[in-house]
Amino acid sequence: MTTTETSTAQSVSDAVTAGSHATDIARSGAATFRTAGGGADEARVATVVGAALEGIRSAIRDNKVTYEEFDAFKRWLISVSDTGEWPLFLDVYLEFEVEKVAADTQQGSVGTILGPFWLDGQAQLDSPATLPMRDDEPGTPMILAGQVTATDGTPLAGAKVDIWHTDSEGWYSGFAAKPPAGNLRAVVTADDQGHYEIHTRKPAPYTIPLDGPTGQMTLAAGWSPWRPAHIHLLVTAPGHRTLTTQLFFTGDPYLGNDVASADKPELTLDPQPTGNGDEVRSDRDFVLEAE
Ligand code: BEZ
Ligand code: FE
Repeated sequence: MTTTETSTAQSVSDAVTAGSHATDIARSGAATFRTAGGGADEARVATVVGAALEGIRSAIRDNKVTYEEFDAFKRWLISVSDTGEWPLFLDVYLEFEVEKVAADTQQGSVGTILGPFWLDGQAQLDSPATLPMRDDEPGTPMILAGQVTATDGTPLAGAKVDIWHTDSEGWYSGFAAKPPAGNLRAVVTADDQGHYEIHTRKPAPYTIPLDGPTGQMTLAAGWSPWRPAHIHLLVTAPGHRTLTTQLFFTGDPYLGNDVASADKPELTLDPQPTGNGDEVRSDRDFVLEAE
């Protein structure tokens, strides 16, 4: 996907299609693997909400925000709701800070943000596995393999590797019209030594939807709307803290300038040719902290 492409191959509005689906998922609380339930006491609400409001008030004071700008801001907030883009906006501009807070207390492999495009209920496959894909799935064939262990090195038999990523044109199944449901998504069960091997296609960089308020605001500010190509992973094993992470690719032009600020040097892969046609392979182990 490029910044100049229109949405004709996808849907009337990519932003509304992706946004409303992501909103339904967020509203359902399906991503409960990382939350311990809602609710906060009065002091916590006053402290956190008070600090957030004071940040906005100081932006108004310091920049002498006008009524025209305040009214434009109201209209923009309403359009974020209308398009269902709250999950997208929050995951692009705020989730990485929440993830940094969480990472402070997490041992084991480096994590990063979840983002709005995870889906529950995908194909359950045993390793070695080939992700569900079209017969003529475009892109470079890629193998991702490794071992899941505990922090003391014990192999985690039967660990699960939930994986999802875009196709080689930058589209996510379930959020864009082109790839079929379930394309390039699965939950892969590792073997009795925690080894996993996943056959897929290399993903591509993509922009956040540009026809919605999050993309429009990003462009209005002159910021890059691109995410470097990446593979999302949720690695789980009973009794261990879930690892939410992404893997990026060396040489990607958008590394270091990720609109979602989620790329980290520790998460970069350097896939090497396997000698089987144009297939490449990367090995990556995951270490999970005991709960
Ligand atoms: C993603 O990685 O899919 C993503 C993360 C944050 C915002 C938008 C997309
Ligand atoms: Fe992504």
